[in-house]
Amino acid sequence: LSRTTTIMILLNYNKAVHRVPRKIIHPGMLTEIFFSSRQKSTSTKSGFDKVAVVGLGLMGHGVCQVAAASKMHQTVIAYEPNMEFLDRGRQRIEKSVTTLLSKGKVSEEDANRMLESIKFTTDNADLADADFVIEAVIENMDLKKNVYQMLGEICKPEAIFASNTSSLSITEMAELSDRPERLVGVHFFNPVQIMKLVEVIHTKHTDSSVIDKAFDWAKGLGKVAVKCDDTPGFIVNRLLVPNMVQAMMMVDRGDATVRDIDLSMQLGAGHPMGPLHLADYVGLDTCYYIMDGWIQKYPNEPGFTMAKGLKERVNAGNLGRKTGKGFYNWDGDKRGDPAV
Ligand code: 3HC
Repeated sequence: LSRTTTIMILLNYNKAVHRVPRKIIHPGMLTEIFFSSRQKSTSTKSGFDKVAVVGLGLMGHGVCQVAAASKMHQTVIAYEPNMEFLDRGRQRIEKSVTTLLSKGKVSEEDANRMLESIKFTTDNADLADADFVIEAVIENMDLKKNVYQMLGEICKPEAIFASNTSSLSITEMAELSDRPERLVGVHFFNPVQIMKLVEVIHTKHTDSSVIDKAFDWAKGLGKVAVKCDDTPGFIVNRLLVPNMVQAMMMVDRGDATVRDIDLSMQLGAGHPMGPLHLADYVGLDTCYYIMDGWIQKYPNEPGFTMAKGLKERVNAGNLGRKTGKGFYNWDGDKRGDPAV
């Protein structure tokens, strides 16, 4: 089959059954597709033969995808306890690969190898012999507590646990796990497939060899890794989330329009997306829960304040891109006009 025919089949098939048919992806088509031209995978050995990702949402599916694309692991376990969420995660990976494929950025051979190396499962017994387990479940400490309890019971004692939390305390997670010295933060950015940064977060408990392994693993994915102590929002979100909320407060006060605020930060500060566009892109619920959690925990920190319009939108179920409406109207991934 020609490459174009293959892409057409893939796209049509994907529309029909929401799944990339592995057998019709040609050898030679997916290597460059997988990582965009901006991002190069290295062949660094991580020392982790088997990596597992727990939670295949917006961030988890991307982590799974970049781990599988790195060629550092024999197997990447993609785990969700619920079949519906597992399928949704698989579809997200397939959609991203199809996008990359349609742009001719990856060899078919690497796409095949990558997809074959991911084991999608709802059975937590598959996590038992993972060397490195990345937790990317929703930002709720009670839920994370249950996850770490389950992982402690199932996983081998030498396995390293890593959380992709964007705002919760890694120290708290370490202390409620059975292996505080072997738990570290690895914070990715959305979209994981494209954004180059990974923050590696350490606590007072983390063994230095564990920090080094997580750091080297992130570099092996082709990312740039930075280190940060376990502090609210680490580096990026500590600066970014208050910035987004300040923009929302400008809208609340009627200082400027949604469009003008975003245009200003794009053209005046060189940001790829304005703060309100980005908030919609990330999810207004995510922004709300991050800021609300900080306000509860650090009531005297002046940088942590809530925007009235953010709370109202979240209460109304207008969460941005994922619900079709936030500060803008959305048609799938395509941003429309500011919402009224
Ligand atoms: N999979 C594969 N490819 C993807 C992709 C995905 N999920 N998402 C985007 N791409 C590709 C596109 O296909 C496109 O490829 P091309 O260059 O070959 O055409 C390329 O990435 C750029 O995408 P677009 O052309 O659609 O749009 P942009 O040029 O505007 O780039 C963007 C999109 C990379 C998202 C850019 O707008 C950007 O960098 N925005 C800021 C994102 C950001 O700040 N993220 C951090 C959020 S905070 C966070 O995540 C922390 C969390 O804890 C809350």
